[in-house]
Amino acid sequence: MKYSKVMNFLIVVIVVVLGILGDCYAQLQDGYYTKSCPQAEAISRNVTWQFVGANPAMAAKLLRLHFHDCFVRGCEASVLLNSTANNTAEQAAFPNLSLGGFNIIDAIKTALENACPGIVSCADIVALAARDAVSYQFNYSLWEVQTGRKDGTVSLASEVLAELPSPAMNFTQLKASFANKTLGVKDLTVLSGGHTIGVAQCAIFGNRVFNFTGKGDSDPTLSPKYVAFLKTKCNGEFDLATTVPMDPGSGLAFDTHYYLMVKRSEGLFTSDAALITSPYAESVMDEMTTNGTFFYEFGNAMRKMGAIGVLTGNQGVIRKQCALNNS
Ligand code: HEM
Ligand SMILES: *[C@@H]1O[C@H](CO)[C@@H](O)[C@H](O)[C@H]1NC(C)=O
Ligand SMILES: *[C@@H]1O[C@H](CO)[C@@H](O)[C@H](O)[C@H]1NC(C)=O
Ligand SMILES: *[C@@H]1O[C@H](CO)[C@@H](O)[C@H](O)[C@H]1NC(C)=O
Ligand SMILES: *[C@@H]1O[C@H](CO)[C@@H](O)[C@H](O)[C@H]1NC(C)=O
Ligand SMILES: *[C@@H]1O[C@H](CO)[C@@H](O)[C@H](O)[C@H]1NC(C)=O
Ligand SMILES: *[C@@H]1O[C@H](CO)[C@@H](O)[C@H](O)[C@H]1NC(C)=O
Ligand SMILES: *[C@@H]1O[C@H](CO)[C@@H](O)[C@H](O)[C@H]1NC(C)=O
Ligand SMILES: *[C@@H]1O[C@H](CO)[C@@H](O)[C@H](O)[C@H]1NC(C)=O
Ligand SMILES: *[C@@H]1O[C@H](CO)[C@@H](O)[C@H](O)[C@H]1NC(C)=O
Repeated sequence: MKYSKVMNFLIVVIVVVLGILGDCYAQLQDGYYTKSCPQAEAISRNVTWQFVGANPAMAAKLLRLHFHDCFVRGCEASVLLNSTANNTAEQAAFPNLSLGGFNIIDAIKTALENACPGIVSCADIVALAARDAVSYQFNYSLWEVQTGRKDGTVSLASEVLAELPSPAMNFTQLKASFANKTLGVKDLTVLSGGHTIGVAQCAIFGNRVFNFTGKGDSDPTLSPKYVAFLKTKCNGEFDLATTVPMDPGSGLAFDTHYYLMVKRSEGLFTSDAALITSPYAESVMDEMTTNGTFFYEFGNAMRKMGAIGVLTGNQGVIRKQCALNNS
């Protein structure tokens, strides 16, 4: 029976090694909290739906928050950290303009800490809130969110500009920016569809409308009719106080109307308009406007985006409060 002792020993060794490796290579998965906090997703959705039901504009805030989290240091909730006496955090960087939804994330966190203390990460809450916010209007979840993210501890304003794509980027630059996050042109095109909800400050695109080359002209790739419309909405090129819907007429509805606007030269940013400068991106846009395709592909692309640079296993922590590092 020596043989079986050796086998037992080997099995123990294998299990231990796999356990160690498993912790290092822990991966995101559907339903990570099924055992540790069975109600986690239901509780999170309840809180999100309550807030979005009361103020539908919050859906766009929560969707954008996940994007900004994932593109800077990966989806590890660094976007939620407040600045401190000795650190200027991501939120203080210029592209934070009009970021919002922090109060909703905090409310979800509070509800989850009450139900399952120390179990659910802020990074997962951001991912769930983005999905639930977009899904509210449909009364079902548009996609499954992979969970198992841990939270980071570092948030630096100085990193934001280099990591986030700028609204002034052309197609080549956008492609490179997304490729750096392991996302392809299809992902870029599908995820840009997120601009079917939400608003932008006039100052972000003001030069395209009021003074494109310094001669008081407008961007020739922007529809003249649309330029005239935007001039009635914005108080000049540098107006930070006024926001306009990026998809007017259905700015609260998660739908494919954004693509129709981009195709008729009414994409608000240079980065939106850039999608019609690529035949491939254009073909993806055509695909998205076919019934049902956009929702399915958006979910797929969000799952990919939601996996960027994640911290799993013992690579990160579970913050007690999303805005603060644990002391
Ligand atoms: C392709 C590169 C992208 C660029 C250059 C870009 C840029 C911007 C800018 C400049 C704004 C307006 C900010 C302001 O007025 O202060 C905005 C708003 C928004 N973005 Fe993007 N974005 C991009 C991709 C994405 C992605 C991938 C998503 C999510 C899937 C997203 C979701 C949103 C949403 C929902 C809003 C509206 C926020 C609100 O209503 O407060 N964007 N984006
Ligand atoms: C979600 O909200 C509904 C209605 O407000 C409530 O009946 C249900 O118990 C809540 N579920 C959880 C998991 O909190
Ligand atoms: C984080 O900063 C915000 C805005 O300054 C503030 O309202 C909030 O109370 C802070 N959160 C914590 C936990 O300190
Ligand atoms: C930043 O300040 C905190 C206390 O607020 C302190 O614990 C930490 O060591 C400081 N970090 C650095 C890099 O100075
Ligand atoms: C965004 O950054 C500006 C400074 O650039 C700061 O005044 C503002 O409070 C920040 N907004 C948020 C939501 O943190
Ligand atoms: C939402 O879906 C649930 C079941 O999934 C159903 O009980 C409820 O009536 C629906 N609400 C609305 C407003 O359609
Ligand atoms: C995109 O912008 C970069 C940087 O300004 C420039 O070098 C490049 O030529 C532009 N590409 C196209 C296709 O316009
Ligand atoms: C993204 O760019 C950084 C430097 O800015 C580089 O270190 C990193 O390897 C790039 N990632 C990918 C996937 O290209
Ligand atoms: C447009 O920009 C140029 C150069 O920055 C400036 O001299 C001019 O006054 C601006 N024109 C308008 C109408 O704002
Ligand atoms: C898309 O599908 C819905 C129902 O699933 C239908 O009412 C609508 O007419 C369809 N639209 C197109 C353009 O096929």
